[in-house]
Amino acid sequence: MCGIIAYAGHRPAVPLVLEGLRRLEYRGYDSSGVCFEQGGDLCVIRASGKLQELEDKLSGMQIFLATTGMGHTRWATHGAPTESNAHPHRSFRGGLCLVHNGIIENYQECKNELLRKGVSFQSETDTEVLVNCVEDECGPGLSNLEAFARALSKAQGAYAVAMMARDEPGTIYAARQSAPLLLGIGTGENFVASDIPAFLSYTRDVVFLEDGEIVRMTASSWEVFSLEDLRPVSKNIQRIEWDMQAAQKGGYKHFMLKEIFEQPRALADCMAGRLDSRRMEANVPELMDAEPPERLRIVACGTSYHAGLWAMPLLEEWAGIPCTVEIASEFRYRKPLLSRDEAVLVISQSGETADTIAALRIARAGGARVLALCNVLGSSIAREADLVLYTQAGPEISVASTKALSTQMMALTLMALHWGRVRGSVNEDTRHKAVSALLALPDQLQSLLPGLQSEARSLAQRYAHAKGMFFLGRGQSYPLALEGALKVKELAYIHAEGYASGEMKHGPIALIEPDFPSFFLAPHDALFAKTKSNLEEVCARSGPVIVLTNPQRQGMELRDGTQWILPEAWGPLAGFFLLPALQLFSYEAASSLGKDVDQPRNLAKSVTVE
Ligand code: AGP
Repeated sequence: MCGIIAYAGHRPAVPLVLEGLRRLEYRGYDSSGVCFEQGGDLCVIRASGKLQELEDKLSGMQIFLATTGMGHTRWATHGAPTESNAHPHRSFRGGLCLVHNGIIENYQECKNELLRKGVSFQSETDTEVLVNCVEDECGPGLSNLEAFARALSKAQGAYAVAMMARDEPGTIYAARQSAPLLLGIGTGENFVASDIPAFLSYTRDVVFLEDGEIVRMTASSWEVFSLEDLRPVSKNIQRIEWDMQAAQKGGYKHFMLKEIFEQPRALADCMAGRLDSRRMEANVPELMDAEPPERLRIVACGTSYHAGLWAMPLLEEWAGIPCTVEIASEFRYRKPLLSRDEAVLVISQSGETADTIAALRIARAGGARVLALCNVLGSSIAREADLVLYTQAGPEISVASTKALSTQMMALTLMALHWGRVRGSVNEDTRHKAVSALLALPDQLQSLLPGLQSEARSLAQRYAHAKGMFFLGRGQSYPLALEGALKVKELAYIHAEGYASGEMKHGPIALIEPDFPSFFLAPHDALFAKTKSNLEEVCARSGPVIVLTNPQRQGMELRDGTQWILPEAWGPLAGFFLLPALQLFSYEAASSLGKDVDQPRNLAKSVTVE
């Protein structure tokens, strides 16, 4: 996610803003920029790459006079990570500058309207559209606050924004909708930022903004209004006692826990602009001009491979596309026979995994069309694929993949629904029910997560000392069983096997004994009865069983095992509730064992070597 800091006070603004951006570097970014008042105008300096590039550009410039300014580190969502796409963005007539975190879903239609009015654009970003929407609202008798509010009221999607106006020196405007933004209240100085670390060195007095609130701030004043009607809103100042490191994790103990709890937001961002909630249809812009493939070969590593396995039934049943899923390090060495009518979909959070890049290149050399599902814009895989979709998960700092997987699952579900609609291979009723279920997911998950964590903690305390464990599931629960086992291995360093539960009888059941727990993933799907009998086979051999399932109902009773009850999900979407439970179990097990949760031994966030 992008980082924002804006300042109005008595100190030199540019050095303070740069320091604040450094405090936000952990959020991940690929370009940056500052805006400050200079000689009655707004001066904007931007650079691609790391903050050092920006500082090099600023060195030698007179940057110590300005006491009002703002800065931004950009995590690219629309448009490559270039200087021209970096924030701040200046309006066409030059009177406004704006920085933004989030996604404006209706930016294209706004842009088209502005183009018709003669506005020209220098970048590919939704942010430049937004600042010009504000300028378009400016007019005689209208304050900058009113123009700002009018433009934001027309914007759809998520935003945290800060704005400066040439004709109003010393003033910062800001607003938030579904993206974090808060005020730092100092003495003779005030701050706006995406996150507390940006200004924690200067003040611990914070005002948390809510969605639909808009701010006008100067060195000596700050006012909050309701975006809807500009009615003043009274806010409480809260005292933050965190140290800097705790602040960068948003108060969570680890980045992994923060990213698990970011999943509702990440899923909403992944859906943004790809679902038509009026028609209740999936409408993936990236797929609009591409024929659905006749056959699809999914290739990936690790957790991303599990995403492909999980989505395969949806792509076959909903999109009617025959699908295979392969591990990249195997695919690349077996001389696959590729045909021109098939596509290869590579899945990679980092977009830099060596085996997956190699697989992409083999697919291209073999004449297949290459699609990519990535989280990092401008990554090698994103650049080399014929077509790329982004999961919009935001930067994933913890080595263990969490929100990367749930957003991959979301993106693949949207692809299956989009292709299913285009090919006519899934009926309208199913599509509408699926979209309705997907739209409800972020809120459901938001309310589910805290309870999941306490359940996970108590189970972890019972089982974290096991010498080994099984994770077992059928159908779409099988890939999640693999993921649950991987999480326990990589975080708690416990040997865990993910297995198709129907395979137990073919050997692994020999491992069952009283100190060898088995996690069964048994949502109330078509395979529940089969999984239940596997579970009973394990119990009959005195193996401890923890079963992730749904509330009991007629014909779905479970007599054995410790039940971890999750809400029933619609159709094939149970994985969105099973996955965070597994993530939290591994997190709590690793925490209780005192492991290095965010940087497990021997692991790298991106495996850029074979
Ligand atoms: C899982 O927690 C790991 N992060 C690892 O398995 C990862 O999924 C794998 O290395 C693939 O990485 P990628 O998605 O960046 O290609």
